Amino acid sequence: MRLILLGLPGAGKGTQAKVLADRHGLLHISTGDMFRQAAAEGTELGLRAQGFMSRGELVPDEVTIGMLLERVARPDAAAGIMLDGFPRTIPQAEALDRALADRGEQIDGVLYIQVPEQLLMSRLTGRWSCSKCGAIYHELTNSPAQTGVCDECGGELTQREDDRPDTVQARLNTNREWTEALARYYGAQAKLREIDGTGEPSEVTARLEAALPEAGKGVH
Ligand code: AP5
Ligand code: MG
Ligand code: ZN
Repeated sequence: MRLILLGLPGAGKGTQAKVLADRHGLLHISTGDMFRQAAAEGTELGLRAQGFMSRGELVPDEVTIGMLLERVARPDAAAGIMLDGFPRTIPQAEALDRALADRGEQIDGVLYIQVPEQLLMSRLTGRWSCSKCGAIYHELTNSPAQTGVCDECGGELTQREDDRPDTVQARLNTNREWTEALARYYGAQAKLREIDGTGEPSEVTARLEAALPEAGKGVH
């Protein structure tokens, strides 16, 4: 099964991808996480991406598409993937479709997590993530037992540089129209499912489960 999680910054893609990918044996691939890791390692790719990310802009397609296609072609992606944050432009979606079609594969479903924009700012400015395992928290709605420490692994919790209010606003502006364009693109392929992303994370998970394409049902 090959799925895409679509949604604006803060919609809950990362939170939900962790749960769903685990349950269904899919490889969770987040291009944002890949860029952040590359930046932390100081690679050329990471340093190039970091400038765009800190301004709330998209990393150029010629960088992003190559990186993602290389990742989904590796053996550990063969059993199924859950894409989080890719595609983010129509050229990215077209390149993905072409690369999968060349191997006789396709995207099975696109789950569009919808959250009113006025909720996204506080979700993002209150987010903390584990620097070791990537677990995602929120200082008000999903706080760890001990401030600054990951419940899962004891790692240190940090805030993302691009979660400052001005950068969040820039990210929303960057992604608003592309997200709608992608919804139309996958709607035209009859692959789009729109999911209400408000309420408790577990409620959103249940809605996503109910919207999975037939291929994914019952594979727990
Ligand atoms: P990326 O890392 O993908 O960031 P994003 O799309 O802005 O999305 P986020 O990770 O901020 O939000 P999320 O939807 O994962 O929400 P989360 O689950 O964490 O990309 C970062 C940057 O990299 C981009 O800006 C761009 O520069 C670059 N990039 C990446 N991919 C690219 C691409 N394909 N092309 C070009 N450039 C690319 O949840 C957020 C918060 O809300 C958390 O605190 C969480 O605890 C809380 N929360 C989650 N669910 C709920 C709920 N139901 N109720 C209340 N709170 C909740
Ligand atoms: Mg994320
Ligand atoms: Zn952790």
